[in-house]
Amino acid sequence: MSLLKDQINLEKLPKHIAIIMDGNGRWAKHRNMPRVFGHKNGVTAVREVSEASAELGIEYLTLYAFSTENWNRPALEVNALMSLLVETVKKELKTLNDNNIRLHAIGNLSKLPKKTYDTLMAGIEDTSQNDRMVLNLALNYSAKEEMLLATQRIAEKVKSGVLSSDAIDYSIIEDHLTTSGMPDPELLIRTSGEQRISNFLLWQIAYSELYFTDTFWPDFKRDDLYQAILDYQSRERRFGKISEQITTI
Ligand code: IPE
Ligand code: IPE
Ligand code: MG
Repeated sequence: MSLLKDQINLEKLPKHIAIIMDGNGRWAKHRNMPRVFGHKNGVTAVREVSEASAELGIEYLTLYAFSTENWNRPALEVNALMSLLVETVKKELKTLNDNNIRLHAIGNLSKLPKKTYDTLMAGIEDTSQNDRMVLNLALNYSAKEEMLLATQRIAEKVKSGVLSSDAIDYSIIEDHLTTSGMPDPELLIRTSGEQRISNFLLWQIAYSELYFTDTFWPDFKRDDLYQAILDYQSRERRFGKISEQITTI
């Protein structure tokens, strides 16, 4: 058993962990291999981290798999990523069900290639009864676009008289985001040494703890996740208050 895992306080686990899985391309480049080789090896890390999270009792794991900006990569890479997604969802379906994990996705999903969209929806449907953990894939995701689409939908409701503008509060906005119904992530991890958000969950990470590691995503293993959780648990979340006001038991 992992020594790091034993140090985790199970009473103080984040409910929701979000990860910007970065560094697949550089991982492959260091091995003189094509970028796609890095993406393929990134799937191993997805499996490891999903299983480890479910075992610990994490309720939501959101993985940034493809941003709206990623369409600007060479077509060969974009196509390979879309195929890999189809392949992975099909291949991992049994493991997801064996582990009682429910697949979910956020982002502008209807704009995904049909095959990717259909496979994803089938995977979501096939795992919809599972209730141990939600594995939430951010696909064709852009936080700014998510907020824009939410604003448009809210404006439509005001225009048609279903909603009054005074009634718009935080919860109305949250209900119109693709993360509706999920708690905000307490912990956001980014691998590969980059320290930026890259248009990921902007609204939802308003008070998240940020954890950056130099490890490339394909090398990210269970112990790396445990390390990130331990780091999170060592922090004092003050939410604007002063230290003395925080009750630590
Ligand atoms: C993350 O790895 C995966 C996706 C964005 C799909 P990258 O492909 O961004 O890898 P680097 O950052 O180029 O090393
Ligand atoms: C962010 O990684 C998107 C995903 C992990 C899917 P990128 O590699 O696309 O981000 P930038 O371009 O370095 O900011
Ligand atoms: Mg990158």
